[in-house]
Amino acid sequence: MKKILSIIGARPQFIKAAAVSREIGRRKGLTEVIIHTGQHFDHNMSQVFFEQMQIPEPDYNLGIHSLPHGAMTGRMLERAEEVMLKEDPDWVMVYGDTNSTLAGALAAKKIGLPVAHVEAGLRSFNMTMPEEINRILTDRIADLLFCPTQTALDNLEREGFDHFDKRVLLTGDVMYDAYLHFSDLRKAPTGLKLPDKFGLVTLHRAENTDQPETLKQIVEALNEIAEELPLVLPIHPRTFKVINHSKLPAMSNKILVIEPMSYLEVLYLLEKCFLVLTDSGGLQKEAYFAERPCITLRTETEWTELAEAGYNQVAGTRKEAIIKAFRGFVRKKPEFTSGLYGIGNAAKMIADAFLQPEL
Ligand code: UD1
Repeated sequence: MKKILSIIGARPQFIKAAAVSREIGRRKGLTEVIIHTGQHFDHNMSQVFFEQMQIPEPDYNLGIHSLPHGAMTGRMLERAEEVMLKEDPDWVMVYGDTNSTLAGALAAKKIGLPVAHVEAGLRSFNMTMPEEINRILTDRIADLLFCPTQTALDNLEREGFDHFDKRVLLTGDVMYDAYLHFSDLRKAPTGLKLPDKFGLVTLHRAENTDQPETLKQIVEALNEIAEELPLVLPIHPRTFKVINHSKLPAMSNKILVIEPMSYLEVLYLLEKCFLVLTDSGGLQKEAYFAERPCITLRTETEWTELAEAGYNQVAGTRKEAIIKAFRGFVRKKPEFTSGLYGIGNAAKMIADAFLQPEL
């Protein structure tokens, strides 16, 4: 029996773990221990995902959150090491690009445990993003790298990964597996009167929320777009705090600002919306799965294949550019074809990989 110790902590990781933990649970030869670092802790940022998506209850919750990067990553590293020494797993598995990812990978490698990285090889080429630093360092020390896309595989090759003693596998994207599994269960948010036609907005990246001029440009663009298309904004706690404490232009009353939504509610909003505006990585793909055009409120994306296919306009953060991208999609909606993120068996491939005798 092989023991996999998984580390999760932030909202997108719960969605990914929902797909992978289910497959691990189905394999007789595998057992899983889950550490929740505590990075996300509000009920609707964490617990609701475990309940709705039947993710096994974490065996450990480290309760580490709301700290500066160094303190957060450092404390996670220390506490994760204690658990790893006690559990002595065969593999440590980390997801994505958050502080929880890097802390988990580093803790494992320092005590000689092999690391598997789900969502390996993504690059934004923007080294000012904490996520870019986290993913580059995690990839470099991981032993088994699961790439969601050919682009991710190519990135690793370009960085010389074929010269390192690592295994790199193209699996497809576990978020697509999650979408396929849960899309029929989508759930209307209770007590909300949604406009008939609307745009779905999310905004939380530090590079947007922590730069007053950038945030001002984005809010102004959203206010103007809302005159033509009402917007629905499930607001991330980070953005909520910043907006409440800064001197930004007021949000238009045509923007419906709501609490963070659960995964099944987001699937419902995606199904009903006309288009998506976001700085989230996950939502860019979910827009594509639901065949909705997406405007990315960043200057670059890791999911370049969406931009190349014309499904996603990487608009940047200037007001005029965001509005221009919006008008482009109002004039012409893209024709969607599927297949960019695999066939929905990424989690199966990941679980099977751990059972290969040479690993
Ligand atoms: C983190 C990840 C980011 C990911 C995102 C998903 C890092 C560096 N960033 O960003 O890659 O896209 O999660 O949401 O790991 N907060 C709450 N309640 C919560 C969670 C957070 O109030 O349940 C507050 C925190 O106290 C903090 C702020 O929101 O003030 C930001 O949280 P943090 O964990 O630092 O990063 P995210 O912005 O969520």
